[in-house]
Amino acid sequence: MELLGSKDEVRQAVSAARREGKRIALVPTMGALHEGHLSLVRAACGRADYVIVSIFVNPTQFAPDEDFESYPRDLDGDSAVLRAEGADIVFTPTPAVMYAADAQVTVDPGPLASVLEGETRPTHFRGVCTVVAKLFSIAQPDLAFFGEKDFQQLAVVKRMARDLDLPVRVVGCPIVREADGLAMSSRNAYLSAQERAAATVLYRSLRTAETLALDGERDAALLADAMEECIAAEPLAVLDYALVVDAATLDPLDAVGDVPARALVAARIGATRLIDNIALAGG
Ligand code: PAF
Repeated sequence: MELLGSKDEVRQAVSAARREGKRIALVPTMGALHEGHLSLVRAACGRADYVIVSIFVNPTQFAPDEDFESYPRDLDGDSAVLRAEGADIVFTPTPAVMYAADAQVTVDPGPLASVLEGETRPTHFRGVCTVVAKLFSIAQPDLAFFGEKDFQQLAVVKRMARDLDLPVRVVGCPIVREADGLAMSSRNAYLSAQERAAATVLYRSLRTAETLALDGERDAALLADAMEECIAAEPLAVLDYALVVDAATLDPLDAVGDVPARALVAARIGATRLIDNIALAGG
């Protein structure tokens, strides 16, 4: 496995792999890797011959009051696990390598980025799309793997690839959960022991909606209310949103059952904002 810091080194390595007829996969990450990331790397290794993992804490997707500085970083630990997983390249650019000091052009992620996460984080998906488009351009992957935990991110990136005719297949992979249901996230490291216990309320709220839907409840507002009630019962949790949406368009649904549906929840546990989601019956 090679640890590469420059775009040219990655381009050269990818060109050589392509000349050998290899199918190229990219797993974009911000590092602090956990089993969720590793499931993406395993999926990539299973479907491609040459796997690039990028580790880049992308400053442009963080607002000034967010956790860019404190975001967990562990390049040595990440490299060791990626080597064991069989990644071919780890691309670890610095912000100065990634962005020219006078860079001006960004990707407008469109209306899909202004709902849900976009209401609290209005500049977030512009930063995500811009860096992901740059990573696609540098690594030229046939396949790119993203987790369903960031369900809106996956939808926005898929939409970007489609609308900009980017020659890459964006593959979504299932959420990986801790034994008690908490979705794996690098930000879980911020939680105190008490907050960590409280954080399971997100998954419990989703399971409540899932169970109701499986029992035949179709009213999306009622399912969202049930999630809200569940979150409200946890004193350490402050709800941001609990919604049932069309899984493809992210439009709010009146009823589940007709199109693939997704329940999405975002809540603060102490100072840490967590998100999670689940497919609902018919989804
Ligand atoms: O999901 C993430 O870790 C980031 O948003 C991504 C896709 C690596 C872009 O910086």
